[in-house]
Amino acid sequence: MNFPDSSCFAARRELVCGSFLGHTCRERIKHLKILVAITGASGSLYAQRLLDNLDPAAHEIHVVLSNYAQQVIATELPDGLKFPADVKPHGLKSMNLPFASGSNPPDAMVVIPCTMGTLGRIAHGYSEDVLLRAADVVLKEKRKLILVPREMPLSLVHVKNFELLLLAGATLIPANPSFYSGAKTITDLVDTVVARVLDHLGIANKLAPRWAEERE
Ligand SMILES: Cc1cc2nc3c(=O)[nH]c(=O)nc-3n(C[C@H](O)[C@H](O)[C@H](O)COP(=O)(O)O)c2cc1C
Repeated sequence: MNFPDSSCFAARRELVCGSFLGHTCRERIKHLKILVAITGASGSLYAQRLLDNLDPAAHEIHVVLSNYAQQVIATELPDGLKFPADVKPHGLKSMNLPFASGSNPPDAMVVIPCTMGTLGRIAHGYSEDVLLRAADVVLKEKRKLILVPREMPLSLVHVKNFELLLLAGATLIPANPSFYSGAKTITDLVDTVVARVLDHLGIANKLAPRWAEERE
């Protein structure tokens, strides 16, 4: 059967009604194992808002931070990063974690925000810590790898790394907020990006108004 909505996970889907109406994917996404990786790019709030909007009761949520993530979080989030209860934080150096092996990969990994350094290392297969190894595992096991890069301007090196990652199957959702939704706060703007990440994870959300949709 061909599924019209490619954002739905093939391996973990559960049909709700057993048929499709038009092009609407009427599926309920089951429990997912998701790894959220936070790096030292500006935009720690993107990571916080993603964690705020992933339900640990519905999904298994793991978090790993790069060393520079700590520094940027200290600069950008006055109260630090808040981990919702039941979210599992992990150190960078231990490979003794499930997602370090292709035998036990997460269903999806999101690197948010993603530095050009981490993006380049992932594009070129570096695996010297568990964050990079997990991204390598996710790519090779054909799971969902979502990168939320933040940098400006872009060099050819960055763009070539984007190309490599797209060819390898990653999804790039640049941290470029949209402005058509009537955002009133920085969090509203951040949520326009986080909503697209949730969309690509296949997680239903109403985090940001959708284009041409009636406001409730
Ligand atoms: C406050 C601050 C903001 C930064 N913003 C960015 C950024 O937006 N994009 C980027 O690629 N690097 C940014 N950097 C530089 C990275 O943190 C640096 O290249 C670091 O080595 C990345 O390491 P990581 O990829 O392991 O997190 C920033 C650094 C600091 C201190």
